[in-house]
Amino acid sequence: MLDKDVHGSPTGPKGRLITGHTKEFQSDTIGFLTRLAREYGDVAKLRLGPFQNVYLISDPDLIKQILVTKQKSFLKSRDFNSLKPLIGEGLITSEKDFHLHQRRLIQPSFKKTHISNYGQDMIDLTREYISTWKNGEERMMTEDMMSLALSIVSKTMFSTELKDGYNLIGEPIDDALKVAIKRMRTLFHLPLWIPTKSNREYKEVLDRLDSVIYRIIERRRDEAESRDDMLGILMDARDDVGGLGMSDQQVRDEVMTIFLAGHDTTATALSWTLYLLSQHPEVEAKLFHEIDTVIGNRPPTPDDFMKLSYTQNIIWESLRIYPPLYVLSRNAAEDVSLGNYHFKKGDMFLLSSYVMHHKPEYFDQPESFIPERFENNYLKTIPPFAYFPFGGGPRVCIGNHFAVMEAVLVLACITQQYRIKLAPDHHEVKPLPLLTLRPKSGLRMIVEERNNG
Ligand code: HEM
Repeated sequence: MLDKDVHGSPTGPKGRLITGHTKEFQSDTIGFLTRLAREYGDVAKLRLGPFQNVYLISDPDLIKQILVTKQKSFLKSRDFNSLKPLIGEGLITSEKDFHLHQRRLIQPSFKKTHISNYGQDMIDLTREYISTWKNGEERMMTEDMMSLALSIVSKTMFSTELKDGYNLIGEPIDDALKVAIKRMRTLFHLPLWIPTKSNREYKEVLDRLDSVIYRIIERRRDEAESRDDMLGILMDARDDVGGLGMSDQQVRDEVMTIFLAGHDTTATALSWTLYLLSQHPEVEAKLFHEIDTVIGNRPPTPDDFMKLSYTQNIIWESLRIYPPLYVLSRNAAEDVSLGNYHFKKGDMFLLSSYVMHHKPEYFDQPESFIPERFENNYLKTIPPFAYFPFGGGPRVCIGNHFAVMEAVLVLACITQQYRIKLAPDHHEVKPLPLLTLRPKSGLRMIVEERNNG
């Protein structure tokens, strides 16, 4: 609710009496948010359900206030509760002191020095994965990228080899997410303990995932030596006061969180990148040139990452056009002012990287794929938070450097050997905004050997 007496009030389109703008938001999230920002400005008002006032914030400075300077006045939105059956009290969903404690514990696994050690695993797993591809075959590239990203997270974070990760973890996580998102987007739903058909199916999927995760934890417990990977850090952590370790449930929640956060996003970014390259032969040619010049025919190494500047810009540009986490949400934890407006505790805020990344005032020809725009430190010339694929502030993506390195090295390994084309009879490629912004119905792509040697 807005305190109208103190300041002006944001405006927005008139919504339905009970449901507000829920229908438009659900049926065309990206289009609806883009129109709202264009027509109603930096702070646009909408309503989801009879009581929930929501504000779409599309000004870089106000976004910075929510994520950084005034972050203590905001909580992850209540919407995240729908994810709790899946990821419990892991890093994405936990709040306040507990979040800070867990974040401090987990952070060392993502230090830049640590990440460069992961580079070799990223390269080895990618080369092994693509070695089975046959010249000219059609592949469901979106599933390939999920499986590959899962095996990379699993090996680097938990020292666990995960073959067929899409079937074992990716698909059940997807099924669980579909239910979670449906619950997020419907106003009234029955509690999970009521054995409706969909609740039973949800529980089955969660049980399947739990059995995989607990197997990983138990196998580690049986090992004689401790390891210093993320699983080791979680399992060896001791409370400062009582010296107590983390419960199995908490270790499970953090592991599931990293599996979820660490695969879907990067895999989606890589899928979009391969699609964009297939549509832009001039960018593809420059990429091939860089790969051939920097790497040639030898196996890529982690050190190549720093030398592949055009490849890096391709990833930044792909994250601009299709940011995998296209909208972040927060609830005001107390009454708070932003700019000229005063908001009440409980008000909800949407911060859309998609909307910001497509604003012509920050990105010339925003719909065009132009990796060169990131040259010469372009981001330093626009306001912070005009571009924020990884969020910001204390809850900035913990895996941001890991993800960029992974995306660049995977792309380098693939394009050193293959040209990836969209299948000739492909359906129209459109983004589907679920938890991440994915290509709707996946991407069928032809892998063609490059014969560049
Ligand atoms: C291109 C790939 C990725 C993108 C675009 C991305 C994006 C994001 C964004 C925007 C957030 C902030 C969410 C918010 O503030 O509400 C976030 C949080 C998070 N990400 Fe990523 N992410 C990526 C890859 C990864 C990877 C590879 C990992 C782990 C291996 C990871 C782990 C996490 C975790 C644990 C959080 C929650 C952090 C916290 O709240 O303290 N992400 N990610």
